[in-house]
Amino acid sequence: MDSIVVKGGGALSGAIPISGAKNACLTLMPATLLSEEPLTLTNAPRLSDIGTMTALLQSLGAEVASMQDGQVLAMSSHKLDNLTAEYDIVRKMRASILVLGPMLAREGHAVVSLPGGCAIGARPVDLHLKALEAMGATLDLREGYVHAEAKNGLKGGTFEFPFVSVGATENALMAATLAKGTTVLKNAAREPEIVDLADCLIRMGAQIDGAGTETITIQGVDRLGGATHPVVADRIELGTYMLAPAVAGGSVELIGGRRDLLTAFVEKLEATGVSVEDTDAGLRVTSQGRAKAVDVTTEPFPGFPTDLQAQMMALMCTAEGTSVLEETIFENRFMHAPELGRMGAKIDVQGGTATVTGVEQLKGAPVMATDLRASVSLILAGLAAEGETVVSRVYHLDRGYERLEDKLSACGASVERISS
Ligand code: UD1
Repeated sequence: MDSIVVKGGGALSGAIPISGAKNACLTLMPATLLSEEPLTLTNAPRLSDIGTMTALLQSLGAEVASMQDGQVLAMSSHKLDNLTAEYDIVRKMRASILVLGPMLAREGHAVVSLPGGCAIGARPVDLHLKALEAMGATLDLREGYVHAEAKNGLKGGTFEFPFVSVGATENALMAATLAKGTTVLKNAAREPEIVDLADCLIRMGAQIDGAGTETITIQGVDRLGGATHPVVADRIELGTYMLAPAVAGGSVELIGGRRDLLTAFVEKLEATGVSVEDTDAGLRVTSQGRAKAVDVTTEPFPGFPTDLQAQMMALMCTAEGTSVLEETIFENRFMHAPELGRMGAKIDVQGGTATVTGVEQLKGAPVMATDLRASVSLILAGLAAEGETVVSRVYHLDRGYERLEDKLSACGASVERISS
C-alpha cells in the first residue's frame, strides 16, 4: 500500500491547475444511461472513483471510452443489457446509487445494491428512494438491493426534500427528465454540481428551470439526445490547494479557480488574514504570516462545505487563537482530529463540535488516512510541520485528488509517494 511522505517547512510558490470536479463527473456519467445517443464529457478528472463509475456503467451495458489520457470520457448507452448494479461495485462508492434514477426512468425497472463509501456516518439513501416514489416508482428492499419498478414509466410529481441532499436531488433530477408531465423538486440542493448536471441534461434536450435555486421544475420529455459537456472545476480541490499556501506560507495561483464556487469558504479564508486575489487565469492566494483562528459551521451550498472542514482544521491547528468547527452535515466526520493530535495539534471533539487551540508548531509524525478529505488534511498539516509526516492508507486520497504529489511539488513542496 502506498504512503505519502511530506517534509514540512518551506513556503510554496507557483501555480496549480484545478481539475474537473469529481462529484460533478460522478453524477454526469450516469446521465448517459438516460439516452441512446452518445454523451461525451471533457475536463474529466483522472481519479479512481471515476474508474469505479466506469466499471459500474460498463456492467450495465454502457460503453465508456477514456480518451486524451482520461480527460475525455466518451460514453454510449445505446442498449442497456443488465439493469442490476451489483454489490461488488456499488459497495466501493456511495455515488453508485446515482444509476438508479436514470435506469428506472428509461427502462421502467432497476435493481441497485445499497451503497458503501467513505466511513463518515450512517449516510442512508432514503431521500433518493422517497423522491422516486413521489414520481410513481414502487420500491422494494430485498437482501441489500433496492428493486425499483415504474411499469408505465415515471410520472411527474412534487417532492419536498425534508433536508438538503445533493445526491438525492441529482437522482430525482435525472429521473424527472424522462417522467411524464411536470416534476417540482422543493428544498433542492443548490451546489454547483447540480447546476452542472442540469446544464448537461439541458444540452441533451431536457427541460429544466431553477437549477441552483431551492425549487427545480422539470418538464418531462419523451427522449434525450446526445451531448458534449465540460465538467465544472472541482471546488473542493480548489479550496484544498487554496489552503496550502495558507498553511505552509508563500503564494500560489490556482488556475481555473473561481470565487463564486466557494464564496463562504473564501470569506472565511480571508478572515484568517490570507489574501485572495482574482487573476486572469483564476485566483491567487498569498499568506500574510500566521493565520488567525476563525469559527466554521458546515452547511449545504452556498454555506461552508463539509468537504473542506478537515482541511480548514489543518490550518486552524497552527492559527493564533481558538477556533470552533461545527459539523452539521455528517456525523463522525472528525476522524482526522486524533491523527492531527499525533502531530501536536490541540483538538477537543464533543459530538459534532471540534475546538481547536492553535499551537505555534506542528511536528511530523506517522499518521493514517481515514477518508478522502481527512487524508488531504493530514498532508496539509504535514506541510506546516517540522520534520517528516508519513501518511499511510492513501488509497482514499487517490479517489479524489489527481496527481496531488505533482501539483504540490510543482510549488516547491516536498511531497513524495512511496510504494510498498
Ligand atoms: C455529496 C458529495 C459529498 C459531500 C456531500 C455534502 C458526491 C459524490 N458526494 O454526497 O462529497 O460531502 O454531498 O455536500 O457528490 N442523507 C440522508 N438520506 C438520504 C441522503 C442523504 O439522510 O437519502 C443525509 C446524509 O447522511 C448526510 C446529509 O443527508 O447527513 C447530506 O448528504 P448528501 O447531500 O446526500 O450527500 P451525498 O450526495 O452523499
